[in-house]
Amino acid sequence: MKLLLSLILIINFFCFSFSLDNGLALTPIMAWNPWNKFGCETSLINETMFMEMAYAMASNGMANAGYQYINLDDCWFAKTRDNVTGQLIADPVRFPRGIGFLATYIHSLGLKFGIYGDIGTETCMGYPGSAGYLELDAKTFAEWGVDYVKMDGCNYPEDKMQEAYTQLGQYLKSTNRPMVYSCSWPTYAYVQNISMPFNYIEGICNLWREFQDITDNFDEWVKIIDEMEIMKPDRSGFAGPGHWNDPDMLEIGNGNQTNTEYKSMFSLWAILAAPLVAGNDLRTMDQETLDILINTDVIAVNQDPLGIQGSRVNKNGNLEIWKRPLVNNSIAVALFNRGPTSSNITITNDILNITNNQNYNIMDLWTHTSNGTFYNSFTAMVPSHGTVLIKLSPIVNEIVNHENHHIHFNFKKKHIPIKV
Ligand SMILES: *[C@@H]1O[C@H](CO)[C@@H](O)[C@H](O)[C@H]1NC(C)=O
Ligand SMILES: *[C@@H]1O[C@H](CO)[C@@H](O)[C@H](O)[C@H]1NC(C)=O
Ligand SMILES: *[C@@H]1O[C@H](CO)[C@@H](O)[C@H](O)[C@H]1NC(C)=O
Ligand SMILES: *[C@@H]1O[C@H](CO)[C@@H](O)[C@H](O)[C@H]1NC(C)=O
Ligand SMILES: *[C@@H]1O[C@H](CO)[C@@H](O)[C@H](O)[C@H]1NC(C)=O
Ligand SMILES: *[C@@H]1O[C@H](CO)[C@@H](O)[C@H](O)[C@H]1NC(C)=O
Ligand SMILES: *[C@@H]1O[C@H](CO)[C@@H](O)[C@H](O)[C@H]1NC(C)=O
Ligand SMILES: *[C@@H]1O[C@H](CO)[C@@H](O)[C@H](O)[C@H]1NC(C)=O
Repeated sequence: MKLLLSLILIINFFCFSFSLDNGLALTPIMAWNPWNKFGCETSLINETMFMEMAYAMASNGMANAGYQYINLDDCWFAKTRDNVTGQLIADPVRFPRGIGFLATYIHSLGLKFGIYGDIGTETCMGYPGSAGYLELDAKTFAEWGVDYVKMDGCNYPEDKMQEAYTQLGQYLKSTNRPMVYSCSWPTYAYVQNISMPFNYIEGICNLWREFQDITDNFDEWVKIIDEMEIMKPDRSGFAGPGHWNDPDMLEIGNGNQTNTEYKSMFSLWAILAAPLVAGNDLRTMDQETLDILINTDVIAVNQDPLGIQGSRVNKNGNLEIWKRPLVNNSIAVALFNRGPTSSNITITNDILNITNNQNYNIMDLWTHTSNGTFYNSFTAMVPSHGTVLIKLSPIVNEIVNHENHHIHFNFKKKHIPIKV
């Protein structure tokens, strides 16, 4: 009895002390995935397409800007597993040289390769799921040279998801191949309004979807970020190096929004420390789309090493102010206008909770210009559905008195500053 009890304790200990801790995704992952543009269009989803997308990413400036992974989504599979080994297999017509070949090609371009699976009995589109095959599939992915596993959650009971996702994380880890682990839980429980605890999720997954699928529609994706803000308990604290909340993939370049709206999306994903997964056709996009996706100033906010998820700090009707603390005491601020007309938005020390009289240089991250100094207040005109994204960097070699006299001095001249 005592032995049994301690066995149970040991088993419990291992279950709940499991930590993915794979050293990956220390900043939000940057990737491409076909789903938002191509869905399950099997006449297009094949080896050729992924090779072309990888080549585009490697050569168009995206790789230089930090994009790294080319990922599969649903519908790459043959309809059944290998009837001898039980392994997943790719559709033999569309992927004639197999997944290992594709991974090797993508690696040869200096990129990494991601695969898609489903924790349930079938994928969302009816291909073979991993339920009952978690260990085998983890090993197969490792053999193929997979660097990233996106695990969907169709066709599986919500109340068993925690256990299954944890198990797969253990199997992935025990392959010893570093693989980013992207989970689709607790999104399924959330969509079904099933209350589940999730304060352990940051130890199990590198990123996790939380809400329904995004669409290329401004009014819909703003609902996702609203849900992130109002969700109780607040999940923003689960974000950090190695583990991220995922509001879903980008729609930038897919054609149903204006570039102003796409820039808002990219700005808010930066504030939210969200994974940046481009979802458009990289082979044919125009320069303006590419320029949004490779805006290195905005990407630097997204990839800030502290990994603190930002949040909405002010909402006045359609006018919102979002803030994200960055390294070196800098602050990213998004002035987001959800309304139908241009409006001025004003930020103040109060709104940003700046209590130490610190002054900041203002950098506009879309125009890449210095825009003066922030003392206590700054106003910008923001177009309908647009976002002004700025970075405030503390001014260090300056002392300011409260009558707004700014005394500049230069440490090199060894002047002793006198505060007046
Ligand atoms: C196993 O699959 C092969 C094709 O992959 C097929 O030719 C064969 O008939 C299958 N065997 C069984 C027992 O289903
Ligand atoms: C992939 O699809 C494209 C477009 O339908 C086609 O041109 C190409 O030959 C296909 N490649 C493979 C390997 O099926
Ligand atoms: C979700 O369930 C809770 C009770 O568990 C209920 O109060 C709430 O109205 C439900 N929300 C939706 C959108 O169904
Ligand atoms: C495109 O966006 C509009 C709103 O601007 C929406 O009504 C429509 O459903 C969207 N179309 C698609 C295909 O998402
Ligand atoms: C932070 O400050 C250090 C020291 O001045 C500097 O080396 C580093 O580049 C700064 N980091 C960023 C992101 O600005
Ligand atoms: C924004 O403020 C500026 C300066 O006060 C003013 O000229 C402009 O008309 C305002 N714009 C809007 C849309 O209110
Ligand atoms: C404002 O800043 C102070 C100290 O800098 C901090 O203790 C407090 O929690 C902050 N308030 C909010 C609402 O973030
Ligand atoms: C910053 O200055 C540039 C150049 O004058 C201007 O185009 C841009 O709108 C300004 N940004 C803000 C937030 O005022």
